[in-house]
Amino acid sequence: MAPGNTERRQAIAIAITGASGAIYATRTVAALLERGVHVELIVSDYGRRLLRDELGEQASIDRFVPFLADKYGAGVHAGTVTIHSNRDLGATVASGSHGCSGMAIVPCSMKTLAAVAHGLSRSLAERAADVMLKEQRRLVIVPRETPMSLPQLKNMVLCAEAGAMILPAMPAFYQLPKTLDDLADFMAGKILAALGFEHELYPPWTGQVGA
Ligand SMILES: Cc1cc2nc3c(=O)[nH]c(=O)nc-3n(C[C@H](O)[C@H](O)[C@H](O)COP(=O)(O)O)c2cc1C
Repeated sequence: MAPGNTERRQAIAIAITGASGAIYATRTVAALLERGVHVELIVSDYGRRLLRDELGEQASIDRFVPFLADKYGAGVHAGTVTIHSNRDLGATVASGSHGCSGMAIVPCSMKTLAAVAHGLSRSLAERAADVMLKEQRRLVIVPRETPMSLPQLKNMVLCAEAGAMILPAMPAFYQLPKTLDDLADFMAGKILAALGFEHELYPPWTGQVGA
């Protein structure tokens, strides 16, 4: 997918790390692209493994956009993607001067959560998250682990105190989901709403289950 006129598009950073739940990431990226967003995509080494392990070789990062188009439809071509190396600390999103308006780490491993909580900035994902916090822009962290240790819980508190939104990978069941994609739609909808986007990924609560 060509970068196109990225300077006129809203840019959102997405980091995929090595926690279970690759489908949450693919649905979120696809939904942003469908809205014409430019996605600055960072995938950690274990995030890359996760994509292949949970979604198959066809979802590997070098085939990521064609995979999204196959799974979610040609609407994803409304947006654009730049795929960054997680080792490139000189990438655009490593600087607060880059006009990225928000970021989601989805799914977020406990390791990356700890790094963000303590401002380590060792990788591009960690640095881009740190930039969001220092610039007071929206950072959505989607942790996935169970059960959780006290250090993990405290790291979530530290991130929340620093201004991040903690949005755990906890899909709801009151919409009576029938497929894994329904669960992913719910999480992606929550992430889009947290980033300030309108969406129809799940129907609003009507006061009645399944209505
Ligand atoms: C198959 C598999 C599943 C994993 N699931 C999780 C998980 O759900 N949550 C988590 O915090 N770590 C999980 N891990 C461990 C992380 O991938 C590991 O801590 C890694 O160092 C995270 O690095 P990253 O944050 O740079 O991606 C998993 C690892 C593997 C191989």
